[in-house]
Amino acid sequence: MKCTRRNIVKAGLLGSAFVALPAVARALPGLATKFRDQFYVGTAVSARSLNAPSGAFAATVAHQFNALTAENAMKPALLQPQMGEWRWQDADAIVKFAEQHKMLMHGHTLVWHSQTPDWFFQNKQGEPADKATLYRRQEEYINAVVGRYKGRVHSWDVVNEAEDEGKGWRKSHWYNICGPEFMERAFRLAHAADPKAHLCYNDYNMHLPQKREFLVKLFKDYIKRGVPIHGVGLQGHVGLDYPSLDELEKTIVAMADLGLKVHITELDVDVLPAPWQLASADISTKFEYDKSLNPYVDGLPDAVNEQLSARYVELFKLFIKHQQHIGRVTFWGVGDGDSWKNNFPVPGRTNYPLLFDRNLKPKPAYNALMALKL
Ligand code: XIL
Repeated sequence: MKCTRRNIVKAGLLGSAFVALPAVARALPGLATKFRDQFYVGTAVSARSLNAPSGAFAATVAHQFNALTAENAMKPALLQPQMGEWRWQDADAIVKFAEQHKMLMHGHTLVWHSQTPDWFFQNKQGEPADKATLYRRQEEYINAVVGRYKGRVHSWDVVNEAEDEGKGWRKSHWYNICGPEFMERAFRLAHAADPKAHLCYNDYNMHLPQKREFLVKLFKDYIKRGVPIHGVGLQGHVGLDYPSLDELEKTIVAMADLGLKVHITELDVDVLPAPWQLASADISTKFEYDKSLNPYVDGLPDAVNEQLSARYVELFKLFIKHQQHIGRVTFWGVGDGDSWKNNFPVPGRTNYPLLFDRNLKPKPAYNALMALKL
């Protein structure tokens, strides 16, 4: 008899406790099962954590979530660090994992001012590239990436963060070289490369009234002119007391009124003191480390843990209220230990923004969400 796990079990070679335990764990519903009638529940991962030898991370992801985003692996700087030098390995591994576990794969992100290599925007002399060159690169890039994953990646963040904190178009290389048309062109190219893909615009601070107004006006025009935009991603990098649920709700309703599907794409709740007035998620923002900004190195006090649970509950109640408009709620990571929030916007802090702790154990906030009445 071959020494497979099934044969070992059949032959009674394993103690019953060992066999029974994983079965019991599997029988407990995870987040995706809990909210299966409301929306997909996703997370962002790296190929490295999925491949971690213990397998605990991969098992948690497969059990708790039914949608997957690559936290970094599908960004231009990671996919094509040098002109013509493609690195597909990590992105391929993540897409494969999603397929193996029947998860919805979301692609993040095609056009962005951050994590796009300098060469993309430069000519051979290192000066700013001209519009024709940048447009050619945009087309080649979108065709290569969307084409490679056609039919396997269900949805794309076609453009990320093109609006600047309520001030209108961000003066990025994209905007400065091409003008605002770089955005609709990206949507048209992505649609041509995979006509069935669900195409999204993604941004942070979408609750800001000026940002909302700017984007509503833009998308209205897109829809009128047949620019293929199907959804909008509200990143959801929030804090314990910002933004207000009212403002967030206004944006969900405004986007849904346009006929766009709404997604919460990068949810985490920062529990640490904010070093700023207006919270941003622009990844180039940095503040210096100061001990006073890092108060919970030895653990999160119960009172703050309760606040965190309450915040997650009120956010989910809002999402549930608008479930007919919401396609997917994706957390930006699994366990607190791997969260980008330990290093943003202040490096080297101990943050607690997610539903699982540093050992991937569900936190009170997880239990609170699992106990919600639907
Ligand atoms: C972050 C990743 O989590 C980090 O690992 C990386 O160093 C910087 O980018 N908005 C986005 C995401 O759209 O791509 C960013 O992800 C977080 C802010």
